[in-house]
Amino acid sequence: MAIAIALLVIALGSVLFHVFTPWWTTPIASNWQSMDDTLQITLVVTGVFFVAINLFVVYTLWRFRHREGQTRRAAYEPENKRLERWLIVLTTVGIIGLLAPGLVVYAAYVRPPDDALTLEVVGTQWQWRFRLAGVDGKLGRSDARFVSGTNPLGIDPRDADAQGNVIVLGNEVHLPLNRPVKVVMRSLDVLHDFYVPPFRARMNIVPGQLSSFWFTPTEAGRYESMCAQLCGVGHANMRGYVVVEDEADFVAWVKTQPTFAQSQKPAAPAGGTDTLAARGQALAQSKGCVACHSVDGSASVGPTWKGLYGKTEQLDDGGTVQVDDEFLRGFIRDPKARSIKGFPAVMPVVPMSDEELSALVAHIKALGAAK
Ligand code: CUA
Repeated sequence: MAIAIALLVIALGSVLFHVFTPWWTTPIASNWQSMDDTLQITLVVTGVFFVAINLFVVYTLWRFRHREGQTRRAAYEPENKRLERWLIVLTTVGIIGLLAPGLVVYAAYVRPPDDALTLEVVGTQWQWRFRLAGVDGKLGRSDARFVSGTNPLGIDPRDADAQGNVIVLGNEVHLPLNRPVKVVMRSLDVLHDFYVPPFRARMNIVPGQLSSFWFTPTEAGRYESMCAQLCGVGHANMRGYVVVEDEADFVAWVKTQPTFAQSQKPAAPAGGTDTLAARGQALAQSKGCVACHSVDGSASVGPTWKGLYGKTEQLDDGGTVQVDDEFLRGFIRDPKARSIKGFPAVMPVVPMSDEELSALVAHIKALGAAK
């Protein structure tokens, strides 16, 4: 009897919890109301089955409970055609109700309108980068073979279509309000998943494969994007922002970002150490170093850069090492060669030109001096 009461409480409690739930979805900011509707249908179908099955068990426990002085035997009934027919029909309808709406919505989700703006999202451990098609609306070819320190997205330098593409190396991208966006996604290493909850839009990014979906942002705002597949120790730091604004602001923002052709021009020779360190700071952002290294002394996946320069670090093999230019350069080029006590040996090799490496080391050096 206790079990019957417990099941009754669970079934009724679940319904009440759903009605008075303290959990809300974020306000929707895209055209995908149908995603929410599909989830609602799934919840109702599974909810009805959950409550009905539990109440049926409660009923049988009560109806056939043990009574003193009464001897009843269970009836053996291996076949009941009528009951089986009913169960087959009910579960079939239930499963169709669960699957069919998703298929309809997904079919629409992967068929962008012709006038959609193309946004490429590139995931790497552990940061996002973006590329927008230029005025011609075409994204140039890309291939992992072209990935280098100066071409982190691996864009084909000989492709004419690529020259006008707008390159966004930070974690923040802007989009115009009320304009459909076709999102094309690539990963340069492992499985990632680009997810912006208020857009109700997300998709896995499988290495070696192009994934695509579309949506229309319907509310202006700054929305957090995140990675929704565990992709290594820096996964939780793989966050970014999508800013939705009106067309004029969007166009103005695009102008502040370099085209691919501009990004391939050699940078102006650095003046003093100050400018070199400033370039290093920008690189730490664009190369994703900041995902694992704090600059304010707080603990993260890797050592903080505050006060790191000049420090003596313990190595796992028992030795010690002085953090200087030479050590930093060697370590960033080949992070697996030595391992520092107290930190997991997970740092990826980040492709970087010699110039960029100097800038980054100057930045770390500047942070070390400022302790
Ligand atoms: Cu990328 Cu998790």
